[in-house]
Amino acid sequence: MFGRVKPLDAILATAEKKSLHRSLGAFQLTMLGVGAVIGTGIFVLTAEAAQKAGPGMMVSFIIAGFVCAVAALCYAEMAAMVPVSGSAYTYSYAVMGELVAWMVGWALILEYAIAAGAVSVGWSGYMVGWLNTSFHLDIPLTLVRGPFDGGVINLPAMGIAGLITWLLVLGTKESATVNAVLVAIKIAALSLFVALTLPVIKSGEFVPFAPTGFTGISAAAASIFFAYVGFDAVSTAAEETKNPQRNMPIGLIGSLAICTIFYMLVAAGVIGTVGAQPMAGPNGEVLSPGTPALSAACAAIQDNAVVCSKEALAWTLRTVGYPFVGWLVGAAAILALPSVILMMMFGQTRIFFVMSRDGLLPEFFSKIHPRFRTPHVITILTGIFVSVFAAFFPVGLLADVSNSGTLFAFAAVSIAVIVLRRTEPNRHRPFRTPAVSVVAPISIAGCVYLFFSLSAATITLFFGWAAAGLVVYYTYSRSRSHVGRGTVEVHEEDSDVPPQPVPPLV
Ligand code: ALA
Repeated sequence: MFGRVKPLDAILATAEKKSLHRSLGAFQLTMLGVGAVIGTGIFVLTAEAAQKAGPGMMVSFIIAGFVCAVAALCYAEMAAMVPVSGSAYTYSYAVMGELVAWMVGWALILEYAIAAGAVSVGWSGYMVGWLNTSFHLDIPLTLVRGPFDGGVINLPAMGIAGLITWLLVLGTKESATVNAVLVAIKIAALSLFVALTLPVIKSGEFVPFAPTGFTGISAAAASIFFAYVGFDAVSTAAEETKNPQRNMPIGLIGSLAICTIFYMLVAAGVIGTVGAQPMAGPNGEVLSPGTPALSAACAAIQDNAVVCSKEALAWTLRTVGYPFVGWLVGAAAILALPSVILMMMFGQTRIFFVMSRDGLLPEFFSKIHPRFRTPHVITILTGIFVSVFAAFFPVGLLADVSNSGTLFAFAAVSIAVIVLRRTEPNRHRPFRTPAVSVVAPISIAGCVYLFFSLSAATITLFFGWAAAGLVVYYTYSRSRSHVGRGTVEVHEEDSDVPPQPVPPLV
């Protein structure tokens, strides 16, 4: 079962040829992390977390941040050691064999493509609210929400996913300058939110602190985990990092720490000003986010609660009496979220590309466009899937499903770190996970705990997806695998698509 391993040396030999210039320091890495991380999670899912845990969501933010931090330390060891495309999929191929790698790659589809869908839906919520406050444009709900959320189709979410797909086909990659500007916009928006809300918080709003108990806090932590996803962007920059043993943990832990502090302060600002108690149904049962029951309960009070809002932070500011700043924060989200979608979809196409090059997915997936030099086939296919998810599913469900895939991949990477320390103790490791015998097991346990704190529907969807993955593997991929056929080719140089200079995002 674990027999088909892609030799690490073959992977590394080609990676060496690539040898990117080591230019990133601790500060740039931290900015990279903050840029990739802050997005729909804090801007939108705060409302869902409140519905699940009430004020206790502050604890959920800490739990999710902690699990991410330990997973990040494991991720960094692998990323620095095997600095190649495909991230968790490639590490698993080298350490635990093809079947595990396939399952990890299959789970990463959930992480990236579904996350891109979730962020598209989050963007749509802000866009619709912003258009409404700017121009009193009352777009019918049927056109801006999916069927689970009281609408029919989410056209703005489809639109933004389509636009990003087009940019990716043209070969757009985010430049460092654009990232820096967007990080500044996001930090400014969150700082403004905190500065205006914290002075007017009322301690009474924090009581009861945990209306749904620790189960609710865990469920919210499993959902809010989404707010931290994206830090793997830091790990994958390992080979471009100066002194990775020092700078990598600073970048990872630094960006996670900055985000955790902001998230806690923003959560406190929301809870303390507008209250964050969950909405209950007629029999006192707490309603699940993203369900028709909650939509109906919200409609009955004209969406007049933060847990009903699709643009939680802008809504809070308007309610507290700062409509203009609410408008500004909305504009910041509208500007900044597309770059998170871009990174997610770019990550997805890269994973598909590597899997296709390994023979596990059809070869035409990795076709390169003659003019744009981008893998247009797989980009367009990814775009179609992302648009469909974004059109019909609520943000919370998409984020949860994405989390299930991410948690699986993080657990696999943490196991790979332990295995490789045993099997190849002497191999050069530019970064070593500190106290690995403690950190890696905690990371695995944390991922398992958060995974099983997801809703039963999400867990079922994950296992359904995994079962489908096994069917595809045994009916298609296994017999076509290049490693299985005895050819170990690693096309690392040109797997880093797009290979030519690309125009920045804006
Ligand atoms: N962490 C990213 C977000 O919250 C995925 O949008």
